[in-house]
Amino acid sequence: MLSVQENMIVTFTPALFDKFAEVVSRYPEGKQKSALLPILHLVQAEYGWLSVDAMDKVADYLALKPIEVYEVASFYTMYFLQPKGKFVLEVCRTGPCCLVGAERIMQHMEKRLGVPEGQVTADGLFSWRGVECLAACGFGPVLQIGPSYTFHENLTEERVDQLIDELKEKAKNQ
Ligand code: FES
Repeated sequence: MLSVQENMIVTFTPALFDKFAEVVSRYPEGKQKSALLPILHLVQAEYGWLSVDAMDKVADYLALKPIEVYEVASFYTMYFLQPKGKFVLEVCRTGPCCLVGAERIMQHMEKRLGVPEGQVTADGLFSWRGVECLAACGFGPVLQIGPSYTFHENLTEERVDQLIDELKEKAKNQ
């Protein structure tokens, strides 16, 4: 969902514009709209998420209507339309995983992290959300952890706790 309250005003740097130009140059003249997905990735890598202001500026750069950028950014779950934690825990919430306890895992995650879906923990380390099928339907419940996209199957509450503890340790040592 687009969140105007959590808008973040951005100023694209010359270095970022250079990257945009390189991406646009891969496409034929007049087809700059095709560069939208990679440019959104670049913006998200720079700022962590895609604010309305950032998307508006991408629209301006690519000579698109803002709605065209919103439609794309809100369709693909790899784009974040609100701030996210350093680590993003994504639980498959599609039918087969729900049958083997995905909802129970999400409830546990909410309790353990102390934040509802989509919100960031006070230390900035974690956010979590339910996502659609992660393509390991026979091994649910399934969890994917970004930004490195490690994949974990046959989840239990204990395993979730262990993974969270490991990530906290990892953050301390970075
Ligand atoms: Fe969960 Fe496919 S239904 S991975």
